[in-house]
Amino acid sequence: MNILAIETSCDETAAAIIQDGRTILGESLASQIPLHRRYGGVVPELASRAHLEALPTVLSETFAGANLDWSDIDTVAATAGPGLFGSLLVGFQAAQTLAWTANKPFIPVNHLAGHLYANWLAYPDATFDFPLLGLIISGGHTMLIEMDGHHDFRLLGQTLDDAAGEAFDKVASLLGLPYPGGPEISKLGASGDIDRYKLPRALTKTEDLPNHRLDFSFSGLKTATRRVIAEEGESLNQADLAASFEEAVVDVVVTKLRLAARSTKPKGIITGGGVMANERLRTRLTELATELGLPLYIPPLRFCTDNAAVMGAAASFVPEKLILPAKVDPNLALV
Ligand code: KG4
Ligand code: ZN
Repeated sequence: MNILAIETSCDETAAAIIQDGRTILGESLASQIPLHRRYGGVVPELASRAHLEALPTVLSETFAGANLDWSDIDTVAATAGPGLFGSLLVGFQAAQTLAWTANKPFIPVNHLAGHLYANWLAYPDATFDFPLLGLIISGGHTMLIEMDGHHDFRLLGQTLDDAAGEAFDKVASLLGLPYPGGPEISKLGASGDIDRYKLPRALTKTEDLPNHRLDFSFSGLKTATRRVIAEEGESLNQADLAASFEEAVVDVVVTKLRLAARSTKPKGIITGGGVMANERLRTRLTELATELGLPLYIPPLRFCTDNAAVMGAAASFVPEKLILPAKVDPNLALV
């Protein structure tokens, strides 16, 4: 079955044609990062307009790359949320209209499900026995999920305030680094000392665990980092600060994932979202999986950040009874 998927939830205009949920036949992606960079973050109005402008080219490149036409498409899918309302509308309406005109079924996709289904694309031969433990870590979300079947999600814990990617972006901006901040912090911290600055690991102390065992909180870390920058002044070592900050985020994620794995006894761990592009996180999670004796799936970088292929993979595995209502929802929940 071939699915044409469109993703426009934030600052990437993307389309892809996916076969049986595991193979990419064609894809195209137009990034708006250069457009938003000078504002230090995504400007919603500019984003929707840029999606509108880029989508026709992105779609024709996708079909041309796959060497397919409409007769080869069985179903159309699009991201319904979460995301920016105006941006979501552009891709969703276009996909719905195309499906209607071409007389094909239409499947709305939850963006967060797409981040997890990146693994089905990245590891096309893996069987993925349930239950799986899922980590979604992106600019807007930090969540631990138990997955008992296709699109059968149970929320184990999530951030109470900032998402991990948001913390990276905010700390990068404190250091005067460009948007998006995650990769910039990583680059800067690569040569830094992870132990130089003492930063908090929120909700990991014994007394926090009864109420927030699998929850995260990153806003205190951002504030503590800001304090270090102010206190150190001229003597601040930016590389050491970036490394210490990155290690604090990674430490918390490793701790919480270990706790979640111990209590849910999964058959494997799947991960997704933009922050999974982080090298230090990838290394530490690989070590954790060895310690736990569990298979760990980390998508390659291009499937971690936003794209349409992973949304097409998610659409391919949705059981009929779990197909979402055909409407855009900027706050669409996964569970
Ligand atoms: O999944 P994504 O592309 O968009 C959302 O759905 O949010 O994630 C974007 C986030 C941004 O906050 C960005 O700074 C972060 O992922 N990110 C990283 C890295 N690459 C991207 N964070 C840490 N290290 C990275 N290498
Ligand atoms: Zn995303």
